Amino acid sequence: SGPETVSPTGQPTGAEQARVAQSGAYLTTAQGTRVHDSDHSLKAGPRGPVLLQDHHLREKLMHFDHERIPERVVHARGSAAHGVFRSYGTAQGVTKAAFLGPDVETPVFVRFSTVLGSRGSADTVRDTRGFATKFYTEEGVFDLVGNNIPVFFIQDAIKFPDVIHAGKPHPDREIPQAQSAHDTFWDFVSLHTEATHHTLWNMSDRGIPRSYRMMEGFGVHTFRLVNAEGVTTLVKFHWKPKLGVHSLVWEEAQIIAGVDPDFHRRDLFDAIEAGAFPQWELGIQTFPDTDDQMFEGIDLLDSTKIVPEELAPVQPLGLLTLNKNPSNFFAEVEQVAFHTGHLVPGIDATDDPLLAGRNFSYLDTQISRLGGPNFPQLPINRTHAPVNDMQRDGMHQTAVHRGAAPYKPNSLDGGCPFFAGADAGAFIEVPVEVPAGRKVREAPASYSDHYSQARLFWLSMSPVEREHIIAAYTFELGKCYEQAVKERTLAVLANVDGELCAQVAAGLGLPVPDPSEPLADVSPSPALSQVGRTWPLD
Ligand code: HEM
Repeated sequence: SGPETVSPTGQPTGAEQARVAQSGAYLTTAQGTRVHDSDHSLKAGPRGPVLLQDHHLREKLMHFDHERIPERVVHARGSAAHGVFRSYGTAQGVTKAAFLGPDVETPVFVRFSTVLGSRGSADTVRDTRGFATKFYTEEGVFDLVGNNIPVFFIQDAIKFPDVIHAGKPHPDREIPQAQSAHDTFWDFVSLHTEATHHTLWNMSDRGIPRSYRMMEGFGVHTFRLVNAEGVTTLVKFHWKPKLGVHSLVWEEAQIIAGVDPDFHRRDLFDAIEAGAFPQWELGIQTFPDTDDQMFEGIDLLDSTKIVPEELAPVQPLGLLTLNKNPSNFFAEVEQVAFHTGHLVPGIDATDDPLLAGRNFSYLDTQISRLGGPNFPQLPINRTHAPVNDMQRDGMHQTAVHRGAAPYKPNSLDGGCPFFAGADAGAFIEVPVEVPAGRKVREAPASYSDHYSQARLFWLSMSPVEREHIIAAYTFELGKCYEQAVKERTLAVLANVDGELCAQVAAGLGLPVPDPSEPLADVSPSPALSQVGRTWPLD
């Protein structure tokens, strides 16, 4: 059972009480005792020492001293809004998820973020943006914890601490505070060349979005949907903004970071306040669930790869509208806890090794960030489905559980036989075959292609977008102290495109290296350069 909201005396408790606090005719202590003076400490005479017996002073200072919680280890800087997701019902053939049924409306909370900056950093820095959505469905919470870039730096979660250490400020001088961290960042991405594709997206205009309202979102990993008949389909999730995709130019981003570091936060809040509710359409690319989990030669378990939309068009599933601002930033935006493991029946994970690590990491980090295991009870994290989880006690427990036998099955409390309802509405992991083999620390051969899609992305860019990418590489690498890091990055760019490499080398005043492997034979169709810019919303 969930937390009590009304005490035996009829007084509001728990969440209800939290809402009524900070109103009323009198100031009180946390214990509800009326306070007569909150401006002067209790002293032995007006100029005398402060007395230890001043419990109001001690309570007030003690609470203030503990107001801060740790910021997120990544994505610390963010902003969020409430809204609603209305499903078209078009996905029913591929998933039994009830919230994707025809005309179902589901409340949502969406948090946008930068990745590397601290909680107080500027909004318009060059970085990946987070796009995390919590769907409060009738079958439990589903979190789609995505980014505005469709690929990731690494293929295996074991490198996540490394890529983030490299991207965060240097350990000695804590510079830079909010952008790619120059020497260590470029050192990492030139040594781990699977990062080339994501880095190219970061150096493009996608790295400096104009507004959260004008960003695409991507689930990045391939997920597995299962329908009512048990048939599975592999999918990638996409959010398409109704306002289209728009970016700042670098000079604008720089000026705004100084003039209004809260630019994206302000833009989102003001738009919603003015009734200009931002909207995104959710869509999926679908792929047959084959044994090899490949599609047109692309490894669907490799998060450094996209599947071009000409090969698998994005099919619309429903419309997201953000229509309400948070009323308390801490209680909503800071305390919300997203987790890739929050899945509902009809949506399952795949064996992408990056996703496997995330499925561990979110819950783990939130135990320390939110102080123990009971953060699902925080108002913003509460599911809208009934909870009967047999969990008990722990730090910050606010529920008053009933019942004498907190385990199932039991013969004392009655009801809830073990796994009752498993066939009707339960989440059951899809019993897919797993490949047999030796236990190894090894990547599949398909993960070693690090350049073909980076080249595809570069070739799909218009002339002005290419200019921006060249300028971004030149500026960022120009900040590096280490010559070897610049040279190694140029060697990487030589494997992407000769012109790109030559222009950046010229900007840095360095020689142009030869490619170490033949350039990938990719030729994007004209449609590819339009990916994400046109969408049949209207
Ligand atoms: C936040 C871990 C990859 C999107 C976080 C947080 C951790 C984390 C620990 C902080 C969560 C919190 O304090 O509540 C990881 C690991 C990854 C990984 C271990 C890979 C192995 C990714 C990828 C994406 C992503 C590939 C996008 C598809 C996000 C977002 C947030 C986040 C959007 C912010 C959530 C919010 O707004 O509260 N990640 N992450 N992460 N991550 Fe990841």
